Amino acid sequence: MRKPIIAGNWKMNNTASAGVALVNELKPLVENANCDVAVCVPAIDIPAVAEALKGSNIALGAQNVHFEAKGAFTGEISADMLKEYGVKYVIIGHSERRQYFGETDETVNKRTLAALDAGLVPIVCIGESLEERETGKTEDVLAKQIREGLKGIDDVSKIVIAYEPIWAIGTGKTATAEQANETIAFIRKTCGEVFCPKCAEKVRIQYGGSMNAKNCKELMAMPEIDGGLIGGASLKAPDFATIVNYDK
Ligand code: PGA
Repeated sequence: MRKPIIAGNWKMNNTASAGVALVNELKPLVENANCDVAVCVPAIDIPAVAEALKGSNIALGAQNVHFEAKGAFTGEISADMLKEYGVKYVIIGHSERRQYFGETDETVNKRTLAALDAGLVPIVCIGESLEERETGKTEDVLAKQIREGLKGIDDVSKIVIAYEPIWAIGTGKTATAEQANETIAFIRKTCGEVFCPKCAEKVRIQYGGSMNAKNCKELMAMPEIDGGLIGGASLKAPDFATIVNYDK
């Protein structure tokens, strides 16, 4: 059985003090969750939010990590820097990073391997654009992102994959539960071919893209969907808690 994981992606929202207030509101609302819970916060919020999360069932995540261990990489943050604050998860290859910051499957791959090496759990994002979906290229695009972005991983079940159709992110347009389920089944099948069928059975694959307090139950009822990567709806404690408690 795969344990579902619901992770918030705050993106570039919340100062450290606002982040602490948010998690303090969230903690009692999710303390009886049956799934794994995480918040992936801006790097500069990490020390304060780490402190606020102590003793709770909410894990801490970052939104990016550099692939080199240290050195002359102005503005970057290493896996060790994250680890020192108890960061567990790190989002890698979010479509916004691919679109605005030149992230490629090659850099996704380097970051993923570096994160795994350091003992972090990468949440690797993959997904197709609207044009790619409409022209029937979804499966090719995803297969390439898996083959190139996850190359060289010994056990794919050590990572979390977030399937995020770009056209559903922040747009209020969710993939239908059936669409998401079907696409995630394809991702799992491809992982079985590229890695091993057993690890593919174990790897947790989230859905992301306008998942919210209203549609979470239907999405989470799908057998292939093992959780969610939540943007907008993770910024309000009651909404995020409703998603985390989808099974109650
Ligand atoms: P959204 O973002 O929930 O606001 O669509 C999801 C994401 O980008 O991870």
